[in-house]
Amino acid sequence: MRVTIANLKAMKQRGERIAMLTAYDYATARLLDEAGIPLLLVGDSLGMVVLGYETTIPVTLEEMLHHVKAVARGARRALIVADLPFLTYQVSEEAALRSAGRMLQEGGAQAVKVEGGAAIAPTVARLTAAGIPVMGHLGLTPQSVHQLGGFKVQAKTRDAIARVIADARAFEAAGAFALVLECIPAPVAKVVTETVSIPTIGIGAGPDCDGQVQVIHDLLHLLPGPLPRHAKAYLRLGELIRQAVEQYAAEVASGAFPTEQESFRLPKGITAEELAELAGAGEDE
Ligand code: KIV
Repeated sequence: MRVTIANLKAMKQRGERIAMLTAYDYATARLLDEAGIPLLLVGDSLGMVVLGYETTIPVTLEEMLHHVKAVARGARRALIVADLPFLTYQVSEEAALRSAGRMLQEGGAQAVKVEGGAAIAPTVARLTAAGIPVMGHLGLTPQSVHQLGGFKVQAKTRDAIARVIADARAFEAAGAFALVLECIPAPVAKVVTETVSIPTIGIGAGPDCDGQVQVIHDLLHLLPGPLPRHAKAYLRLGELIRQAVEQYAAEVASGAFPTEQESFRLPKGITAEELAELAGAGEDE
C-alpha cells in the first residue's frame, strides 16, 4: 500500500520521525523504496546534482517530468513528491494547476512541492481544492537564491523569524500537508513544528522537526568536494566509484578483463578449426 498524506500526519501525532530522501532515477528510487523510506522527493536539486547547473533556476518542467516518471516506475510504496520548478507556478494559479496536474497525471507523483510562504498560499489553496496534495518549502528557498544573496541560513532577525512562523501558518491554513524547513536556526524550526499540526521536514533545521530530508548525493557523498554543513555522508560512494573505475581501466589495459568467466564460448558443434577455416574462406573472397 502506498504511503498517504494521512499516514504522515498520523506519524507526527504519534511522534514517529519521518525520513525523506531525494531520488531522481529508477534504480535509486527502487533502492530507497525497498529500504522503507516513506517519502521521496524528486527535488529540483536535480538541476545541480544530476544536470550540473549552478542553481535550481534553469530546471524546466519537462526535465522534472522525465525524472519524476523514472522515480514513479521505481517506487511502489513511498509517497512521491515532485518539485514544481521556478516560474511554473508563480505566474498564475492556472499555470500552477497545469504544472502540478502534469506531475501527477503524466509523472506519476502523488504530491507537489512549492517554495514561498503567505504570498503563494492562494495558489496552494487552489491546488489542494483540485485534489493535489502540496508540500510547502520555507527558510532557504533555493529558487530565490539571487534574492537571498546566496545559499545562506535564513530567519536570523526577529522580523524574519516572525515571517517564517506566519508563512508556516499560511501554508497550513491553505491546506498544505507538510512543510520543508531549510537552513533556519534549530530553535525556530522547533517553534514552527510545535505551532503547526502538519509535519515539518527539516534540512539544516535541527533535530526537533517531525522529519528530515537529505539530498541522496550528499548522503552517499557522490560528488567530489565538501558537503553542506547540514549534510552527513553515510558512505563515500564517489571515492568507491573512482576506485572501481580505475581498476576496470587498468584491467582492460592489461588484458585481465574480461576472463573466460565473462566471455561466451563457440556454439556446440562448431570447432576452433572450422572457425579458422571460415576466417580463411573470408580472406579468399
Ligand atoms: O530540491 C530539493 O532537493 C529540495 C530539498 C533540499 C528539500 O528542495
